[in-house]
Amino acid sequence: MGQDEKILAAKQIIDTSSKITVLTGAGISAESGIPTFRDSDGMWNNIKPQDIASPHAFKKDPGLVWEWYDWRRRIINRANPNQGHYALAEIERQKEKFTLITQNIDGLHEIAGSINLVELHGNIWEIRCEKCDKVIKNYEVPLPELPPKCNTCGEITRPNVVWFEEIIPMHMIDQALLSIEESDLMMIIGTSGVVEPAASMGLLAKQSGKQVIEINLEETPNSAIYDISLQGKSGEILPLFYDIAKTYN
Ligand code: APR
Repeated sequence: MGQDEKILAAKQIIDTSSKITVLTGAGISAESGIPTFRDSDGMWNNIKPQDIASPHAFKKDPGLVWEWYDWRRRIINRANPNQGHYALAEIERQKEKFTLITQNIDGLHEIAGSINLVELHGNIWEIRCEKCDKVIKNYEVPLPELPPKCNTCGEITRPNVVWFEEIIPMHMIDQALLSIEESDLMMIIGTSGVVEPAASMGLLAKQSGKQVIEINLEETPNSAIYDISLQGKSGEILPLFYDIAKTYN
């Protein structure tokens, strides 16, 4: 099946699905100017993830870890949602049930208007106290001091994100799995599908009898098991899937 036929088939499935769960990764924010992790120009080409985004890296040198996150906050601060983010927010408005599970910490889905959002890996605009565990929103760019201090107890804080070697809070995974169970369709967008538990969600959806549509710049290890795998930019493909007529009448 050619790309055009696959897009038509995907649109048919999306139009006739009333309950949709979507999983996104760094690829959906690439067209907003935010680097991905494992592309040829991805962030993990210059540094080992465990050396910067892990508890032992933070214990060893919290200032260095915060320098890296401060750098990412500057890039994300300049970024805006792209047509892919907006298209998903529009599709959510048109569906009976819609859950957006994202591995991204950039907050762009929320800015684009997505409501039922599960931020599996946390949010770069939240900081968490290492001592009293208080979580606050902090949008300062650049951060005036590294590491930032807790405004309650004065201890150092960390980014409120999930690092390598850390587990995702169970309630988040439960919410994600329940939404997959209750959906007709799962869409997997802009993720290399190598980091668990997100990497297994598409397979789980297939095993639960759901239809699965993938949109990714290139094929992934799971592409062959999905009903439709579309190669291309999510910012170009996703806007093809919501019905302008429905939006404006
Ligand atoms: N449109 C669609 N897909 C794209 C685009 C685009 N414009 N640009 C890149 N991609 C694809 C790439 O081909 C790649 O397969 O997005 C995918 C991004 O993969 P990764 O860089 O591995 O990012 P992700 O899958 O989100 O990583 C998962 O790993 O490092 C951890 O916590 C980090 O959340 C991240 C997790």
